[in-house]
Amino acid sequence: MDSLKLGYVGCGFMAQKVHIPNIVTIPDCELLALAELRPALGRKVQARYRIPRLYADHRALTDDPDVTAVVVSGHFSGQGEIARDLLLAGKHVFVEKPMAVTVPQAERILAAGRQVGARLMVGYMKRYDAGNELVKEAIARFRETEELGEVTYARLHGFTGEWICNLDTPMETTEEPVPPADTMKPDWLPDEFVGRYIGYLQQYTHNINLIRWLLDADDRVRVKAVDLDADGRNGVVILDVDGIRVVLESGRVSYYGWEEHTQIYFRHGWVHTWAPPLLLRNVPAKVEIYRGAKGHELSYPIPSEGWTWSYRREMEHFIAALRNGEPFRSSGEDTLTDVRLFEEIYQIYVRQR
Ligand SMILES: NC(=O)c1ccc[n+]([C@@H]2O[C@H](COP(=O)([O-])OP(=O)(O)OC[C@H]3O[C@@H](n4cnc5c(N)ncnc54)[C@H](O)[C@@H]3O)[C@@H](O)[C@H]2O)c1
Repeated sequence: MDSLKLGYVGCGFMAQKVHIPNIVTIPDCELLALAELRPALGRKVQARYRIPRLYADHRALTDDPDVTAVVVSGHFSGQGEIARDLLLAGKHVFVEKPMAVTVPQAERILAAGRQVGARLMVGYMKRYDAGNELVKEAIARFRETEELGEVTYARLHGFTGEWICNLDTPMETTEEPVPPADTMKPDWLPDEFVGRYIGYLQQYTHNINLIRWLLDADDRVRVKAVDLDADGRNGVVILDVDGIRVVLESGRVSYYGWEEHTQIYFRHGWVHTWAPPLLLRNVPAKVEIYRGAKGHELSYPIPSEGWTWSYRREMEHFIAALRNGEPFRSSGEDTLTDVRLFEEIYQIYVRQR
């Protein structure tokens, strides 16, 4: 089979630090074209990675008949529109999270893909973390064997911290101004809440997306309670995830590392996982399993592949799934639920203010 011909839109931070270095070292694909609104930056990144074609914006890239699939990392709310244009042109798309900031926007993007039969994957790299794969397998196994009894509770804790970890991958810079952001927002959201909404959504969409996958909850999730501070971030949200109470604790702490963990409680034990700092390459999530049904046993399983990076595994999945037709583990259709939940959380928050 020929190698998959890829395009890339937006050569900013995530592109240069994460996705382009991963793409150019993954077999079976070729980075054929780059689109970037800042021409000098585009030329520098094109030269560094010897990318054959450079376009002035994503629309010019849509006309390249040799490009089969495109990876997009742009502004939070604008990147979904870029993805939509690419899908309408028949390109398969990987777009960074969040895919959309409103449900109608999400539905328009998904309709575009369906209209032409192009596929959309969203960058929820936590679903590709080898440690989180062990967590998911353990939960499924314990639910099947009933060894630990039923799932009683789950706790998502995200106080974040430092996520770049001195990653020394080279980064081309430019004096060109950052292009103005295409700021979309839900109709019902007053302007003064937009920054808070996007800030909360872009961070905690990861946690809600992850727990839906870990618990196989699909769209069976609703918001039970919201208690967030005036900053729209510090606080607690309670969800019903397929009948299980899930608490999302969000906040900030000045921390040199990354303060995020997820704990799924059973009647007689738990599965607990600590997220690695995001850009700490080749470190999967740490996993702890406590079995307290008969005696007491703590174990710390390690993924069989050892040291791996979730972002690289997600990009390998995108390329492999396009080549062999398997479904995306983090599809655009699936993340519609995340978009819906964040609108619901903030509708409650805004009513309380
Ligand atoms: N998965 C994660 O853990 C994670 C972490 C950080 C950021 N992100 C996501 O990545 C996305 C990008 O973040 P970033 O920090 O790389 O942004 P950035 O601002 O550094 O880069 C975006 C680039 O896109 C370019 N661009 C915008 N519109 C374009 C268009 N129409 N055509 C061509 N180029 C265009 C801009 O000029 C800019 O260079 C954000 O949406 C963010 O949510 C994800």
